[in-house]
Amino acid sequence: ENITTIEQMEADNAMLKQNACAVCAETYDDRVKAQSPHCKFGEGGICCKNCSMGPCRITAKAPRGICGADAHAIAARNYLRSVAAGTSSHSDHAREILHVLRNASPEGNYKIRDEQKLLSLAKEWEVPTEGRDIYDIARDVADIGLMEFGKPEGTQRFVSRATPERQKVWAEQGILPRAIDREVVTAMHMTHMGNTADAEFLVRQGLRTSIANGWGGSMLGTEVTDILFGTPTVRTTEGNLGVLEKDMVNIVVHGHDPVFSEMVVTAAEVKELTDYAKTKGAKGINIVGLCCTANEVAMRHGVRMAGNFLQQENAILTGVVEMMCVDIQCIFPALPQLAECFHTKFVTSSPIARIPGATHIEFKPETAFQQAKDIVKMAVDNYQNREASKVCIPPSKKNAVVGYPTEQIIKHLDGVTNSHVDELGSYKPAIDAIKAGVLRGAVAIVGCNNPRVRPDYSHFEIMKELLQNDILIVATGCAAQVATKAGLLNYDAKYYCGAGLRRVCELVHIPPILHMGACVDISRMMLLATGIAKDWGVDTTQIPVVGCAPEWMSEKAVSIANYVVSTGLDVYLGIEPQVSGSAQMMELITEGTRKITGAGYIINTDPHELVKNILAGIEAKRTALGI
Ligand code: SF4
Ligand code: FE2
Repeated sequence: ENITTIEQMEADNAMLKQNACAVCAETYDDRVKAQSPHCKFGEGGICCKNCSMGPCRITAKAPRGICGADAHAIAARNYLRSVAAGTSSHSDHAREILHVLRNASPEGNYKIRDEQKLLSLAKEWEVPTEGRDIYDIARDVADIGLMEFGKPEGTQRFVSRATPERQKVWAEQGILPRAIDREVVTAMHMTHMGNTADAEFLVRQGLRTSIANGWGGSMLGTEVTDILFGTPTVRTTEGNLGVLEKDMVNIVVHGHDPVFSEMVVTAAEVKELTDYAKTKGAKGINIVGLCCTANEVAMRHGVRMAGNFLQQENAILTGVVEMMCVDIQCIFPALPQLAECFHTKFVTSSPIARIPGATHIEFKPETAFQQAKDIVKMAVDNYQNREASKVCIPPSKKNAVVGYPTEQIIKHLDGVTNSHVDELGSYKPAIDAIKAGVLRGAVAIVGCNNPRVRPDYSHFEIMKELLQNDILIVATGCAAQVATKAGLLNYDAKYYCGAGLRRVCELVHIPPILHMGACVDISRMMLLATGIAKDWGVDTTQIPVVGCAPEWMSEKAVSIANYVVSTGLDVYLGIEPQVSGSAQMMELITEGTRKITGAGYIINTDPHELVKNILAGIEAKRTALGI
């Protein structure tokens, strides 16, 4: 009842589509039509352009490329290149943040907000801390972190956080990741014309490259972001386009890297600027987030979330966005052109995400705060250009409780541990609930939106059905924002749960879907699964916990899915990876990896069928554990 249905969300979209038509603006659904039907060779992963003898396309009549590569080699090479690109994206994001940590200072723009987390990482990496200045320690930690990208020997440090069984599997299978850059470069090298043509070895390198992401780049990104901006704690916020305000200066921060958005959020609170907004006739400045930047600032500041990936155009279509400023990843190149149909200023900030038609203001850590203030002032100055006739804000919004990193989950579990101090800080209460069957298991729902399916629908249906079946959900990225928009990130959402899960939610005082952060924070989920497995005394592949990406679309998602499988957790996909032109590759990603890591993909484009698959998978894990 107290939920926003998919039909309501779609009605909002339709309303905004009218606004687009009124100004003759094109949106993604127009381009979907123009691109349909999709290229069959691309869809099946059997088009190769890795050398200029090609491009070569595999058909029944032409089963090999000019060099002799078959469908399996071509599909596997394309797939590995996606993993490499995804690993690069998360890792490069992390590297930027490490540089910010390296240059953090008490007088500078960026300070250390979570000293405890820095000290514990220093301890893990054997950096001396006794009697040292915190910023000196930070520099040493950052230097070690930066070496993870290019160290000449050794493997990723965070691998030692995995279960001992997992580490053994990775070592025995030869997929322990070396330096992050090395794995990406090796992947690119292997897929160069005239190298590996055996699909299995390309898949193996995909696993290794992905572990360099999940247990390397992404984990570094999450750790260092927490150190610089604070480890998230529980906060109440709101989500969906209704968070845009008619009588305020609206600024949307969009992308993934919080280094930029943190400063914009801080600048928007400066009294001088809010006063300035009032002189322009606005009631104040309203900062909202979009995509993973939204998750980052919501978890740390309670900044409200305007929406997920496929709402980026909708935000502009409301006609009330004075400025959209973006950092990196998942930003439609269509946005500057769309912004031109309105008064919206579109600002890019990163040298690696340049888009024609945007105002580019290159963001520098040394001048960050001043730049952020200038940007906010620019938005305020734009308020007077808003055209009343183009304004259309769908009123939909919901309350959301966000901010559940592993530290916060442990805190809640400690709250119900009534006995001994030595039991504090463990997942034992959750394990007991799973063993007793009160909870059947947990599912991590992650990923993007994808117009190949009815957007948001699969997420929504899968979430509702899992809750009814006493499955606790942890969510990140755009999946978490579907839950936000629907109103499922609430204590009240317990009424959608089975009796067991409802009891757990009441006892532990949590919503049934825990918002763990951005896509880069899927590393937190790996640590959660690892923590549960360790306290259980088993390996991650044995626990009734799985991953699910109903609407994934990016290369980052391919890399993530690979590291989740590498961690021993099955991944349920609602969108088929682009390898279907090779029967061998389909076999390798669904079954073949099981022999390597103990896990694989289960693919089903029907969300209701996918739920059945998930429930069967979880029950099978339980049976194997004898519970
Ligand atoms: Fe064709 Fe082989 Fe060149 Fe690919 S690498 S384009 S299959 S000749
Ligand atoms: Fe994301």
